Amino acid sequence: MKIGVVTERRAHERRVAASPDTVKRLAGQGHELLVEAGAGATSSFPDAAYERAGARVVAHGEAYGNADIVLKVQRPLMNGEGAVDEMALLRRGSVLVGLLAPLQQRDQVAGYARAGVTAFAMELVPRITRAQTMDVLSSQANLAGYKAVLEAAAAFGRAFPMMMTAAGTIAPARALVMGAGVAGLQAIATARRLGAIVAATDVRLAAKEQVESLGATFLVVDLEAMKEMETTGGYAKEMGEDFARRQQAYVGEALQKTDIVITTALIPGRPAPRLITKDMVANMRPGSVIVDLAVEQGGNVEGAQYGNKVVTANGVTILGPANMPSDIAVDASQLYARNLLAFLALIIDKDKALHIDLNDEIVKATLLTHDGSVVHPQLAGA
Ligand code: NAI
Repeated sequence: MKIGVVTERRAHERRVAASPDTVKRLAGQGHELLVEAGAGATSSFPDAAYERAGARVVAHGEAYGNADIVLKVQRPLMNGEGAVDEMALLRRGSVLVGLLAPLQQRDQVAGYARAGVTAFAMELVPRITRAQTMDVLSSQANLAGYKAVLEAAAAFGRAFPMMMTAAGTIAPARALVMGAGVAGLQAIATARRLGAIVAATDVRLAAKEQVESLGATFLVVDLEAMKEMETTGGYAKEMGEDFARRQQAYVGEALQKTDIVITTALIPGRPAPRLITKDMVANMRPGSVIVDLAVEQGGNVEGAQYGNKVVTANGVTILGPANMPSDIAVDASQLYARNLLAFLALIIDKDKALHIDLNDEIVKATLLTHDGSVVHPQLAGA
């Protein structure tokens, strides 16, 4: 198969969908790799590294138009969104694999169908054991959690660990992580490694044990209510008004003694829950730092701005990173590329031909369009 790897052109995106390592593995399987010139530059993968791995470095028109499968990070630019209309370059009958944000971009999904492109959305890979190697949400969230703590540390005017020096003792920083999923657990581990005293909160009771096993304190809002707040799929349910009010009161108090806050709370398919209000921020100590990793989904923190740093009147810094995994682009690309490599094994058979098994659970969950129609159950007929 001819597999195209293209430069990402959307704002705030530095990752690339294939690494020299995955290119080498795919070339070793007998595929022809067409890598757009410069595609890996922002992830520190030069064209020469792809060539050494067995790829042909080509212009973008060829990487799109000549490929049977196009690998991407972000959904293609379309209709004047950028200088290049990537959507128009996709060949009828080709396969597109990427983070296509299908539930938010229904028109674009319809566009794939009209263009005769078979599109797979990697964020819809189910959280099942067989799909773990393809789980892009986990591979990227893990790095985002790590990087968020480093960003917080860089913006913080104090040290994280306790230090006893001849000139006096420095008290350890106190961190609070809100939302203890994949990103939150890595944030806890990273803040602990740096020497902070860490607490965390979540609405899922299952998170308690995981938080405690990392040496952090779990803040329990309402043990009984939390037993009901996890879906069978392992995700959080939206909290009710009463729970939200009690969580804010409880957390508001903790925040007054907290230096670093990392928020990661998300509800699939819904806006991010508002966990920290302006009043709660106003009561925090000057010099405290908040990183809102949910800012792309509307934000957990009132006043957080997408892609910006805000310093409040009382001296609290709020960071709203636009694309945190992209800020650790080398590792994020390596892991994302490995996720795609595992996914390709699902849709390419041992004779190196495209084989889309419409009965496969992972295919069913990720396939958006096929044979000119929108086929995903959550999107078809919409
Ligand atoms: P996510 O990104 O959807 O949400 C992040 C965290 O925010 C979650 O822990 C969620 O419970 C929490 N949250 C939501 N609303 C909140 C609120 N109001 N206050 C505080 N916290 C709130 O979650 P992620 O990281 O994608 O993980 C979701 C689940 O999937 C977890 O149970 C995780 O362990 C599980 N998982 C399973 C995998 C597998 O079996 N292959 C792989 C990765 C994750």
